[in-house]
Amino acid sequence: MRSHSIAVLPGDGVGPEVTAAALEVLDAAQEVFGFSTERTDVPLGADHYLETGDLLTDDMVERLRAHDAILFGAIGSPRVRPGVLERGIILALRGAMRQAINLRPVRLYPGVPTPVDGLTPQRCDLVVVRENTEGSYVAEGSAVHRGTPAWTAVQESVNTWYAVERAVDFAYRLASVRRKRLTLCHKTNVLVEAGALWSAVVEEVGQRYPDVETDYVHVDAMCMHLPVSPERFDVVVTDNLFGDIVTDLGAVLQGGLGVAASGNLHLGGEAPSMFEPVHGSAPDIAGRGWANPAGACLSLALMLGHLGEGEAAASVEAATARVLADLPALAGEGMGASTAELGQRVAALVRDGSTPAVEGSLMSQLARVMSP
Ligand code: IPM
Ligand code: MN
Repeated sequence: MRSHSIAVLPGDGVGPEVTAAALEVLDAAQEVFGFSTERTDVPLGADHYLETGDLLTDDMVERLRAHDAILFGAIGSPRVRPGVLERGIILALRGAMRQAINLRPVRLYPGVPTPVDGLTPQRCDLVVVRENTEGSYVAEGSAVHRGTPAWTAVQESVNTWYAVERAVDFAYRLASVRRKRLTLCHKTNVLVEAGALWSAVVEEVGQRYPDVETDYVHVDAMCMHLPVSPERFDVVVTDNLFGDIVTDLGAVLQGGLGVAASGNLHLGGEAPSMFEPVHGSAPDIAGRGWANPAGACLSLALMLGHLGEGEAAASVEAATARVLADLPALAGEGMGASTAELGQRVAALVRDGSTPAVEGSLMSQLARVMSP
């Protein structure tokens, strides 16, 4: 029987709730599609940090490296100074595992309410390829005269040809199995040095993909085009910070942050990729069963696609989309069902197996470009 070793990192806040729901769905997928998983629980997060003082240790990195994939919930807690857990765990993991790409699909599934009037699923199906290891996320920055009126802070952005090319090449490969359109999103008119490097990479790599059309949009204009004409975009490749920002906007189009999924992809085969909902730990609603597990379930689907379980991935995607479409009918106050109940519904649909696959499923495209 095929077996995959998965490190499960539920983290803080609503992370454990949505991860538990996703694991129920994974149980169902294993039964139906005939594979098994070996799961290791990883206690990283606020509690672990407050008890031990440890963030991501070298020892933990080595233990995690031995897995085929990491299923991640959410990290961040009001009990810890902002940035400590985020940088010390999430960003540290993305760096340590050389997860070059943060892949963030922006897809509106049929029947899912979106705040954008008149938006249809046909018009909202794009993928953001966010460079995941550099930009302003890695430059330490410096400050002098802190706490005085002369306080001066410098925060730079790191852009290497190596990492940008890796992201851009992946984005072209993905575009070539999709609608064959790649958009570079940047701010080349102001960030002229970084912008020049990104543009030059796109120009060079683009020559290897003559059938993919290349487009460019400034990041501010992107925030206007995305809600108004998302159909203009197929694959969008962008810098770490811009990708962070535009994918929160993208999540709104898809029906909210609770719905959006992501994969932090290691492209080389020496370390695991990591799959996480785009939402954060939402400490204000933790423990109440109010978090939507769809983002976690769709992240699970991405993970399954990455592990070569394409049929299971498509089934989990279809079941999650179906449950999302049924939500408005359920909703009274709040979602109308708890996090756990929604997970059970998705799992039941996976077991039942009669939900038709989503048309043009991203999971099958990913299987062609994602596996190492
Ligand atoms: C995300 C999050 C993280 C990021 C934070 C928590 C460090 O916002 O995954 O989008 O900025 O990448
Ligand atoms: Mn973010």
